[in-house]
Amino acid sequence: MKIPTEIELQAAQLRDTLNEHNYYYYVLDDPHIPDSEYDRLLRELQALEAQYPELMRPDSPTQRVGAAPLSAFAEVVHTVPMLSLNNAFDDDEVHDFEKRVRERLRVQEIEYVAEPKLDGLAASLRYEEGLLVKAATRGDGSRGEEVTQNVKTIKAIPLRLRGDDFPRVLEVRGEVFMPKAGFDHLNKQQTARGEKTFANPRNAAAGSLRQLDSRVTGRRPLTFLSYAVGVVEGAQLPNSHHDILHRLQTWGLPISVYMQVVNGVQGCLDYYQDILAHRDNLPFDIDGVVYKINRVEQQEQLGFVSRAPRWAIAHKFPAQEALTQLLDIDVQVGRTGALTPVARLSPVNVGGVTVTNATLHNQDEIIRKDVRVGDTVILRRAGDVIPEVVRVLADKRPDSSQPFVLPDKCPVCGSDVTRAEGEAVVRCTGGLICPAQRKQAVQHFASRRAMDIDGLGDKLVEQLIEGDLVKSVADIYTLSKEQWAGLERMGKKSANNIIKAIEKSKSTTLAHFLYALGIREVGESTAGLLAQQFGSLEKLMSATEKDLQKIPDIGPIAAKHIVAFFQQSYNREVIQRLQEVGVHWAAPTEQPSAATEQSLAGQTFVLTGTLSSMTRDKAKKRLQALGAKVSGSVSKKTSCVVAGEKAGSKLDKAQALGVKVIDEAGLMALLEQ
Ligand code: IVH
Repeated sequence: MKIPTEIELQAAQLRDTLNEHNYYYYVLDDPHIPDSEYDRLLRELQALEAQYPELMRPDSPTQRVGAAPLSAFAEVVHTVPMLSLNNAFDDDEVHDFEKRVRERLRVQEIEYVAEPKLDGLAASLRYEEGLLVKAATRGDGSRGEEVTQNVKTIKAIPLRLRGDDFPRVLEVRGEVFMPKAGFDHLNKQQTARGEKTFANPRNAAAGSLRQLDSRVTGRRPLTFLSYAVGVVEGAQLPNSHHDILHRLQTWGLPISVYMQVVNGVQGCLDYYQDILAHRDNLPFDIDGVVYKINRVEQQEQLGFVSRAPRWAIAHKFPAQEALTQLLDIDVQVGRTGALTPVARLSPVNVGGVTVTNATLHNQDEIIRKDVRVGDTVILRRAGDVIPEVVRVLADKRPDSSQPFVLPDKCPVCGSDVTRAEGEAVVRCTGGLICPAQRKQAVQHFASRRAMDIDGLGDKLVEQLIEGDLVKSVADIYTLSKEQWAGLERMGKKSANNIIKAIEKSKSTTLAHFLYALGIREVGESTAGLLAQQFGSLEKLMSATEKDLQKIPDIGPIAAKHIVAFFQQSYNREVIQRLQEVGVHWAAPTEQPSAATEQSLAGQTFVLTGTLSSMTRDKAKKRLQALGAKVSGSVSKKTSCVVAGEKAGSKLDKAQALGVKVIDEAGLMALLEQ
């Protein structure tokens, strides 16, 4: 069939537009259109190509969905070998490296390029006449596996180079990896489908790239950053590593924004500390930094030895994973009665911190990983996340070991435990009879964001519960001075202080009070919303599930928990007693009626990074005052992300989801409106 010229033009234009937007998004990190518009253009091109298959081009963005599965990977020979890196594990080893280099080069000062060491797998991309023709893994450095179809699904990798000054043949080397947000999302998806989860982003990246079915790769959130070149024919590249990478960027290849030129070994070590301090906020996992001599001429002078260049070195960070022994499994009971199995471990250093406990989440997780007392386990600690047992080394298991099963009675109060349908957690049915739940309910009630009773810390609450002085949170208000003074490590003065703090806490707000009650599914922002919408406790207490669900962001589950809480006579009694002892809040004087005051109603904001003109807490309150909901995590439903200084993975996720992002100035403008 002859394709009409205007159709051909239209397809070419769509291809160019889509590739251009890909470049803005992945290389410049500056999207020009929302994701939905990109998808619309892509569908338009797909429709044209379906109607006129001859329009199909190897660099069409529609080619990114993957192709028919292979039966095996073909072998690729790397004419320029793919090198590995030598490692330095401390500052001394970096000094040794620099000394060796200086002696060989007979120079005093050396300029380096420092880059993050990405934790994925190396890939080589071969472009001929600007077109991506072959992609391969590193393999043993001389021979790898051809993964062209898989690599084509990675949107950060251009299918055609931009401009017209690229070499006739260009091999780009870089790392294929999975950002943290994508990794978390993938593992959640895998769990929901009952499929195997990945131990860390690197395994997930490797497992995703080495797929015989490229359509599977296409569904995985992989990305790519360039860090070197291999074969180059038909053009001269710049004479420094820094300039080469920036040249790659002009051709549409993504490079790391964290790349930096530094001077001498001190420059390298400063960079190391800087990146290490920000490690947890980076949107992807790194296992160290890499220092490379910047001048190509010096690189050539030094050459390489046994597959590693003499002109570069990886300075590794403390590992985030470690092997240790699982000594025992304890079961903790939380505020809402949830039984959480906790692994007691033989102490081990992970990422610079000594770890002795790790969460095992719930029974399903224990079964899935088959974790048993006595096992040798791989422990992982990423950032400020609670350490987790990733995997068991089955071959090191003692013969006598037994599968672990959560008890059917609460280990604290002996009440029965139940598991609600569709829930992974098992709960103690003891409610406030259970000292564990009671203790945490009181701790929560007294905490800063709830009733804010200064000085009533966890240790003191423990004494109150163990001494049976406090059965419900209302009892806090009726203890005598003598009773307080009689507690361990409590002098007269501290007793006076605590009594003053308790007195002060009586004057609160409805939002704080509701949060302090510890109703399931009612966090700080929901409590604020309820206070705002109902205005009085009485109205809220008589609300039905239907009434509650009319409020934006209150779903059926939260509504059920709220109604159930106020139906329980015990809870009603406690509330009444609290009011009788004098807990009060100002009746809402102004109903939020004026439209301007509620200009952000129905919108969900996420705050991330540091703000300079106010605390995040303050910003949150001001947004809530305008009717907005402020949430802790970014999803497709988020209306807007406020990104302060050093915003990390939440910003990344917002960008990945196409959620609107504003900076501090944007926030101020919004609040002042
Ligand atoms: S350069 C010519 N730069 O680390 C030297 N490698 O341990 C080639 N890697 O196989 C490597 N980030 O997969 C280089 N910024 C970076 C890197 C990096 C991660 C990986 C790469 C390499 C491995 C060596």
